[in-house]
Amino acid sequence: INECYDGTLTTALEDEKFKATAGATIAFRGLGRLPAKWLLVVGTGANSPEDERRAAGAAASFARDKSLASMRIEVGNHIEHQVEGIIAGNYRFDRYMPEDDRKATLESVVLVNGSEDGVAAGVALGSGRSLCRDLVNGPADDVHPQSMAASAQKLASGRLTVEVWDYEKLKSERMGGIEAVGRGSDRKPTFVHMVYTPAGESAGEVALVGKGVTFDAGGLSIKPSGGMMDMRCDMGGAGAVVGIMSALEALDVKVKVHGIFGAAENMLGPNAYKLGDVLTFRNGKKAEIHNTDAEGRLVLADCLSYASEIEGVTHIVDLATLTGAAVVALGEHFSACYSNDEGFAKQLCAAADAGGEAYWHMPLEKLYADKLKGDMAPLKNIGDRWAGSITAALFLENFVAEGKTWSHLDIAGPALISGKERHLCKGATGAGVPGLLAWLRDWA
Ligand code: BES
Ligand code: MN
Ligand code: ZN
Repeated sequence: INECYDGTLTTALEDEKFKATAGATIAFRGLGRLPAKWLLVVGTGANSPEDERRAAGAAASFARDKSLASMRIEVGNHIEHQVEGIIAGNYRFDRYMPEDDRKATLESVVLVNGSEDGVAAGVALGSGRSLCRDLVNGPADDVHPQSMAASAQKLASGRLTVEVWDYEKLKSERMGGIEAVGRGSDRKPTFVHMVYTPAGESAGEVALVGKGVTFDAGGLSIKPSGGMMDMRCDMGGAGAVVGIMSALEALDVKVKVHGIFGAAENMLGPNAYKLGDVLTFRNGKKAEIHNTDAEGRLVLADCLSYASEIEGVTHIVDLATLTGAAVVALGEHFSACYSNDEGFAKQLCAAADAGGEAYWHMPLEKLYADKLKGDMAPLKNIGDRWAGSITAALFLENFVAEGKTWSHLDIAGPALISGKERHLCKGATGAGVPGLLAWLRDWA
């Protein structure tokens, strides 16, 4: 290719001090020297799976910015990871832009040196993540408890069943947390239980539980306007559960997987739940409300109780945009990972690493549990100023049955990012999807 440019390409790269770190790019116009509009030089780093995702993703991101419908790519040999990276890098959320202003998506990609192996898996991983990103990016007027249930229901097919409970049903099923949080909105809450059954004999059985607060105004403990701006992302945990469930069959996951979420709008209204209320959750435990903006844990409490009732389930993982404290501590790159089993936390952090995410193992410090003692009831729904992400995790632990291995991922930082990171554009990233799919695929 250097010859097409009469040897000037390498000089140009030297001039620019181009270091071939994964995803670094320099673009050259084709200028008739190549049968292409653009030549993009992309760094592949150490050619690790993640480096290839970033490299291919950077190329696909460039293609989107330039509105290119086709691309030929030569970045190594991990086909699956490249395909996954291409889908993630090519993603934009522009459906509300006038059609003329939207950039073209890639329609065809030629992978040089590639085989078909890994393409299908890469597409499943990429599409599951994009589905989550669409749900999280979608405005709360389009993504609400009824539409979340419909999104889950759309996935029902051969190996996947979906059950939806409406407001009346979830009330009669003693889901006091979901009921209270969702009650202040005209759009009443829903509860969803999906089940994926593997083709052969199951190698295990797990439950994934998502926080599905489709908008978090804070309730009567109303958020200031700035803090409310991004709160359409507050169903990020449920969105990840839906994204993961959508990919299991194509990835031929060997484990039986339950996908569970409660979807509710945390609003202010004549019927909204109040400070000082005492709620009773599905497992019979009670908590008094000291702040209606600590609502995610109330929705999760019922869902975790429900998941704990499923006999065969040995592992429960919940995902939630749960606390601002997690974002303060770890920023937008890391999800906070808590577990009642150290080994399991380590396993999930390793899976995240392999999948191209970052989970950071945090302490589930029992000494802080006293902060959650209520006055009228055994529990209250907030601690004091400190360690807010830890006390939120400790609250949740009350709703996990003895004997279940459990992990809580606070994805508040990475669920919706304020600027481009790696090959991911600003907005929803699909946090939770790649890491947990890596864990489930790797089940031994
Ligand atoms: N949904 C928010 C947490 C959040 C913050 C998610 C920033 C994404 C980005 C959650 O419901 C919330 O409001 N948490 C409170 C808890 C507090 C009242 C104990 C918080 O973090 O301030
Ligand atoms: Mn809140
Ligand atoms: Zn919330």
